[in-house]
Amino acid sequence: MNSQSISGFSFLHLLFTVNVLVLFQAHNGSAYADDYYRTCNNTFSCGSTITGIGYPFRGPDDPPQCGHPRFVLICDNQNNFTNIDIASMKYRVLEIDQTNQTMRIAREDVMETTCPRETANTTLDYSIFTYAAECANFTFLYGCPAWDPPYFSYISCGNGWNDGDVYVLPGAQGPGYCNASVIVPGPVTGTGAGGFVNGTRLGLELQQGFLISWKIGGIACGDCTASKGLCGYDFTTNQTTCFCSDPPYVSDTCTTVNGTSPAKKGTHSTSFLASFRMEFFVDIPPDKSVS
Ligand SMILES: *[C@@H]1O[C@H](CO)[C@@H](O)[C@H](O)[C@H]1NC(C)=O
Ligand SMILES: *[C@@H]1O[C@H](CO)[C@@H](O)[C@H](O)[C@H]1NC(C)=O
Ligand SMILES: *[C@@H]1O[C@H](CO)[C@@H](O)[C@H](O)[C@H]1NC(C)=O
Ligand SMILES: *[C@@H]1O[C@H](CO)[C@@H](O)[C@H](O)[C@H]1NC(C)=O
Ligand SMILES: *[C@@H]1O[C@H](CO)[C@@H](O)[C@H](O)[C@H]1NC(C)=O
Ligand SMILES: *[C@@H]1O[C@H](CO)[C@@H](O)[C@H](O)[C@H]1NC(C)=O
Ligand SMILES: *[C@@H]1O[C@H](CO)[C@@H](O)[C@H](O)[C@H]1NC(C)=O
Ligand SMILES: *[C@@H]1O[C@H](CO)[C@@H](O)[C@H](O)[C@H]1NC(C)=O
Ligand SMILES: *[C@@H]1O[C@H](CO)[C@@H](O)[C@H](O)[C@H]1NC(C)=O
Repeated sequence: MNSQSISGFSFLHLLFTVNVLVLFQAHNGSAYADDYYRTCNNTFSCGSTITGIGYPFRGPDDPPQCGHPRFVLICDNQNNFTNIDIASMKYRVLEIDQTNQTMRIAREDVMETTCPRETANTTLDYSIFTYAAECANFTFLYGCPAWDPPYFSYISCGNGWNDGDVYVLPGAQGPGYCNASVIVPGPVTGTGAGGFVNGTRLGLELQQGFLISWKIGGIACGDCTASKGLCGYDFTTNQTTCFCSDPPYVSDTCTTVNGTSPAKKGTHSTSFLASFRMEFFVDIPPDKSVS
C-alpha cells in the first residue's frame, strides 16, 4: 500500500515534470504555435464555382483554429454542392466573394422543390451575418383549413411531398388559422400586382438564393495577410488572430510594414494552451490510485 502510494506519486511527479518541459518548449514557440501556420495553409474548394476559399471559412477536416467555428463549409462531393449551417439550418452556398465578404446562399430544402420542406423560418445568426442586398420576405402557409383558405396564391409544391394546399403570401406572417407558416427571403420582384405571388416563379427565384455578408475577420485578417501571416481563430478571445512562420507565431500581425518583428502581443493562444495542460495534470488527486 505504502509503496503503491509512493510509485503513484512519483509517476505523477514525472508526468508533471515532463509536462513542464513541454510547456517550456511551447513557450519558446517551437512545439505548437508554429504548427498553426503550417496546418492552416489550406483553402476550401468544391466543384468549379467555390474555389480557394480561406478564412473565416474552413473545411470540416481542417484544424478548428484555422477558421471561425460558424464558417465550416461541407462539400457534397457527389454533386459538388457546398453547404453551410447557419442557426441550425442547412444552406446551399452558391457563391462566395471574399473581397467584399459576401455570399449567396439558398435554403437547401428549397433547392429541389418549390416549397420549403422544413417547418422552420429562415433566421440568420445576426451577430455575424447581415443581409447584403435588399430582399423581401415571403410566407408559406401549410395546413390551412378548407373553410378559410387565405386570400393569396395557392401553389403546388410539385413533388408529392406535401399534397395539402400550400399558400404563399408576401411579407413575414404568422400562421393564422393554418397549421404553420414558414418565412423565406426572396427577391423584391417576387410580388406581382395586387400582392399576387406566382408560386412557380417564386420557387425558381428562391433557388437563386439571397446575398448575405459576414461581419468578422475583415480588417484583422487583411492586416495579417498583408504581413504574410495566415488568419486563424483564437478560441480564448473568440477573435481572429494571425499565425506567423516565425516567433511569436501567434500575434496580431507577423511583421510591421517595415519588415521587423512586431511587438510581442496577442500570444494568448500559446499561454492558454500552456495553462490548460497544466491544469489538466495538476487536477488529478495524487492519492486517487491508492484509495
Ligand atoms: C501555402 O500553400 C501554397 C500552395 O501549396 C504555397 O504556394 C504557399 O506558399 C503556401 N503559403 C505559406 C504561407 O506557406
Ligand atoms: C466536381 O468538380 C470537380 C472539380 O471541378 C470535377 O472534376 C468533377 O467532374 C465535378 N463532379 C461533378 C459530379 O460535377
Ligand atoms: C459582392 O460581390 C458579389 C459577387 O461578385 C456581387 O454580386 C455583389 O453585388 C457584391 N456586393 C457588394 C455589396 O458589393
Ligand atoms: C424580412 O427581411 C428583411 C430583409 O430584407 C429582414 O431584415 C427582416 O428581419 C425579415 N423579417 C422577418 C420577420 O424575418
Ligand atoms: C393541422 O394539424 C392538425 C393537428 O396536427 C391536423 O389534425 C390537421 O389535419 C392539420 N390540417 C391540415 C389541413 O393539414
Ligand atoms: C415563423 O415566424 C412567424 C412570425 O414570426 C411565426 O408566427 C411562425 O410561427 C414561425 N414559424 C415557425 C415554423 O416557427
Ligand atoms: C408563373 O410563372 C411561370 C414561370 O415563370 C409562368 O410560366 C406562368 O405563366 C406564371 N403564371 C402566372 C399566372 O402568371
Ligand atoms: C468564447 O466563446 C465561448 C463559447 O461560445 C464562451 O463560452 C466564452 O465565454 C467566450 N469567451 C470570450 C472571451 O468571449
Ligand atoms: C516604419 O517606417 C516608417 C517610414 O519609413 C517610419 O515612419 C516608422 O516609424 C517605421 N516604423 C517602425 C515600427 O519602425
